[in-house]
Amino acid sequence: MIEIEKNISLLPYNTFGMARNASAMSLITHEDQLAELPGHEEYQQGILVLGGGSNFLFTTDVREWVIRNNIKGKRIIDEDKDFVWVEAGGGEVWHNFVLYTVQSGFGGLENLSLIPGKVGAAPVQNIGAYGAEIKDTLFRVKAWDLQQKCFRIFSNIDCRLGYRDSIFKNQYKGRFMITSVIFQLRKKPVFNIEYGGIRKELEVMGLKELSLKAVSDAVTRIRRSKLPDPAVVGNAGSFFKNPVISSDRFGRLESRFPEIPFYETGAGQYKIPAAWLIEQCGWKGFRDGNIGVHPRQALVLVNYGGGNGKSIYDLSQKIILSVSEKFGILLEREVQVYG
Ligand code: EPU
Repeated sequence: MIEIEKNISLLPYNTFGMARNASAMSLITHEDQLAELPGHEEYQQGILVLGGGSNFLFTTDVREWVIRNNIKGKRIIDEDKDFVWVEAGGGEVWHNFVLYTVQSGFGGLENLSLIPGKVGAAPVQNIGAYGAEIKDTLFRVKAWDLQQKCFRIFSNIDCRLGYRDSIFKNQYKGRFMITSVIFQLRKKPVFNIEYGGIRKELEVMGLKELSLKAVSDAVTRIRRSKLPDPAVVGNAGSFFKNPVISSDRFGRLESRFPEIPFYETGAGQYKIPAAWLIEQCGWKGFRDGNIGVHPRQALVLVNYGGGNGKSIYDLSQKIILSVSEKFGILLEREVQVYG
């Protein structure tokens, strides 16, 4: 049985802390409930699947029926001498699942510690941090087709995972609810500590021996020091994607701004930290009433309490405009804007 609550505040269900309402909301705790959901032809307003609500900016009330994924469970489904395949319910809190893999000695997700959100949302965004993304370990996704009313299995390749991108953000936007994800993890971890100051943090922590726990703790400490805690200050992590440009364009920019930071992504492409571009335009730490740009990470827009989605959106437009005027680069939003 699915229970439906009417006219519900979304405030507790989005990390940006937007006080918008949903006309109807249901909690899905078991796969069996999905067959009860009406199809598009029966429910005109459509369905909006919400995980941890950590990547949404609500600028208006929500007309759709909001379905919150709370399908739990984690289990080992197979193993061989090198790998273990672990399945997690889409409603598991991502960080709790990462801690479970770290404690079990399974390598591959430790660099992705403390990312907000739920397991079911991780493939949608191909979440990534500190030189890892779930594309590296994702084996299979099970998802409910809200249109055809049946389950479908997606392999890693089927998901078309790209930089903060997947088939679930494009061709299949709004069509599926991810009910579980299987990860292929290593029994003998391969540590990746070159990116983003992990090695330095391990030194500060005085840890001599590498372990999954040490890397997870280091990443957790770095994230806590740079990124605002959504429980304290509303935010949705990076608001924009880091732009990727050709080597020709990069060469022209570098001659004008020799200090420009970059990562080479291969195939002659360069990724530029959007945070640097935004900071150069003077936005870092900007505050207008109860919204602003985080003082320690310019890529994160924040709601200090009581801010509304429309003003955050307008601020993001101004940032896009000034970065485009100064650098000729058009920033793309990473956060999904509703309304
Ligand atoms: N920088 C600035 N100003 C700032 C912050 C950063 O100039 O205010 C420059 C510095 O040169 C720094 C570089 O940007 O070296 C990179 O900064 P950082 O390591 O903080 O990473 P990022 O590229 O800004 C990305 C992800 C984050 C992820 C970090 C760490 C995107 C859109 N964001 O940010 O992901 O945690 O790398 O790997 O790719 C998220 O997606 O919500 C998220 C937080």
